[in-house]
Amino acid sequence: MTAILIDGKARAAALRAEVAIGVAAFAAAHGRAPGLTVVLVGDDPASAVYVGAKGKACREAGIIAGEYKLPADTAQADLLALVAALNADPAVDGILVQMPLPRHIDSDRVIAAIDPAKDVDGFHPVNAGRLATGLDALVPCTPSGCLMMIREALGDISGKEAVVIGRSNIVGKPMAALLLRESATVTIAHSRTADLAGHCRRADIIVAAVGVPLLVKGDWVKPGACVIDVGMNRIALPDGKTRLVGDVDFAEVLPRAGWITPVPGGVGPMTIACLLANTLKAAMSRAAS
Ligand code: GUN
Repeated sequence: MTAILIDGKARAAALRAEVAIGVAAFAAAHGRAPGLTVVLVGDDPASAVYVGAKGKACREAGIIAGEYKLPADTAQADLLALVAALNADPAVDGILVQMPLPRHIDSDRVIAAIDPAKDVDGFHPVNAGRLATGLDALVPCTPSGCLMMIREALGDISGKEAVVIGRSNIVGKPMAALLLRESATVTIAHSRTADLAGHCRRADIIVAAVGVPLLVKGDWVKPGACVIDVGMNRIALPDGKTRLVGDVDFAEVLPRAGWITPVPGGVGPMTIACLLANTLKAAMSRAAS
């Protein structure tokens, strides 16, 4: 058996097209397009690439993209002042402060300063709490995209065994909350988990989001399982070049899994498409309130 590749690029293109239709309808109804402002502090090259991709995707969907690039030594107070100004700007529906922030800035403080109604990352404790308690929320983009791909592969997932590897606020915890909301039986594994391989072997769904290159091995995977790889790890090759690999040993897992996401071209494109969807959702909710 060979796994079916889940084509995140194609799925994301479909979602983006759907969002573009919603954006046009919003603009027609409200006389303005939804707006997303992305804030990048410092010059981390990977973050700059992500931020550029987010802006381009916005414009293609008809969303007005604003961008602030601040120097790495920006004072926390200045960043908080910018967030306050964006909170107060009626043309801004979504605010995204790219993580990670430089070490001298308290990320939790910055996230908490964002108006929850504009928190298109879904990182604010209000949105995290709303998701955890089953209320309507802005949900973090990466796990939203993962859930869409899982649903597309498996259909109804109620009663399925799901193992989420990683307990970050950005991916692992909201992923677990989303799977639980769909009535899966959810295990959250992390760096202290004993017998990770044993947990994975029982899983119908594995979501790997730990940032450990090629962690999930072929014999960890139950035949036919759905394997979602959130990892984006750049590893050095013997010839001096580098390669982007996930948290899943793709070559080993491919012959055993039922479905698998490639890296790149799996989760990444879906994350950006979900950001656009969240921006439209935020704009519609704000316009209705
Ligand atoms: N850094 C890596 N992923 C993300 C994300 O989804 N949102 C933000 N703001 N920063 C990130």
